[in-house]
Amino acid sequence: MSLGHVVLYICDEAFYFSLEVPELSCFYTIGRVLEGHQFRLGVPRTAICLDRLQKNSTPRQLRPDSGQRNDIPLSSRPPARYLNPSRNLKFTQTNPPIKMSSPIAFIIGAGKNVGLHTAAALKQKGYQVAVGSRKPVVDEAKKSGYHPIAVSAESPDSIKAAFAQVTKELGPPSVVVFNAAVSVPPPVPADPLTLPFEAFKQHTDIVVSVYAAAQEAVAAFRSPANKDALKTFIVTGNALPWIPAKFLQVMGLNVEKTAVWRLMELLSNAYAKEGIRFYYAALVGDQGGFLSDITKFFTSGPQHGEVYSDLVTRKDQAEWEFRFTEDAKQFKV
Ligand SMILES: NC(=O)c1ccc[n+]([C@@H]2O[C@H](COP(=O)([O-])OP(=O)(O)OC[C@H]3O[C@@H](n4cnc5c(N)ncnc54)[C@H](OP(=O)(O)O)[C@@H]3O)[C@@H](O)[C@H]2O)c1
Repeated sequence: MSLGHVVLYICDEAFYFSLEVPELSCFYTIGRVLEGHQFRLGVPRTAICLDRLQKNSTPRQLRPDSGQRNDIPLSSRPPARYLNPSRNLKFTQTNPPIKMSSPIAFIIGAGKNVGLHTAAALKQKGYQVAVGSRKPVVDEAKKSGYHPIAVSAESPDSIKAAFAQVTKELGPPSVVVFNAAVSVPPPVPADPLTLPFEAFKQHTDIVVSVYAAAQEAVAAFRSPANKDALKTFIVTGNALPWIPAKFLQVMGLNVEKTAVWRLMELLSNAYAKEGIRFYYAALVGDQGGFLSDITKFFTSGPQHGEVYSDLVTRKDQAEWEFRFTEDAKQFKV
């Protein structure tokens, strides 16, 4: 029988637990169990705070500096009867650790252009940023203050594992940017079915991965740690979904982006009432279609960073299909 929830702070990290312990009020018991588990190393013992919550209530957060706390000086001796932690006690961690100090963003496909400029813009807004790609440059990412994650955007299993890693190492993200894409041209564009089946499937694998990322993101957004956070999921798009379907060399990319575009609309409609924002964001030309000079895209990281961090930090929901121009201004349809 679960008797209640406990919120525990160790420095600025919070852990949520459900407990099965006959005498929940005995903080000494919990302290002894913690000592025997993963918290032994590197944790200043005097900074542990606990709060007992009612059975079935939602865990609430107490900040160590709020005054609502019970300090447990673990160095002091608990009553002898509590020294055996195996005594009728079951202790399960129900939530991963979260950083209380800064919200967390996860960028999937964090390359030098959109990804890293977005990471820089979010870091400046106080986010801890996990930067994901197939082969992250770990030292460089760490030196820049980011958290590198190896992930394949063509594999939903890899996406799930990456979210688990981010959540374990940083906490549940409240911002997810899906920037990775695949574009394989058919060998004979005028005969687009020359694109091998396996190559076409790479595009649809991205769609399934965006779906998996959205599932993982919503689970993370709903975690108690993100109760008061602004929750945003952005896919980097392009104009293919709304321009005439005549560019056969990007047939696969067109199917990929159009499916993701529709998915963002559906999810935006479904989750707006929960305060969860889904966006298909695309840099467009002056007429709302493709850039007249596509090479300009490759230096558009700063504008993407500006637009994405605005979408993330604004309180309201902007249009889910968010077109913007080279000056980082919204293009109104
Ligand atoms: N608005 C437009 O007209 C327009 C024009 C061009 C591109 N785009 C869109 O912009 C996005 C990319 O922009 P960008 O300039 O930021 O690209 P970028 O600088 O090349 O970065 C792409 C990042 O994604 C990672 N990546 C590629 N494939 C991946 C995969 N399968 N799994 C995981 N990570 C992967 C790459 O690292 P690894 O290689 O290490 O994995 C790289 O870090 C795409 O969504 C693309 O469709 C839009």
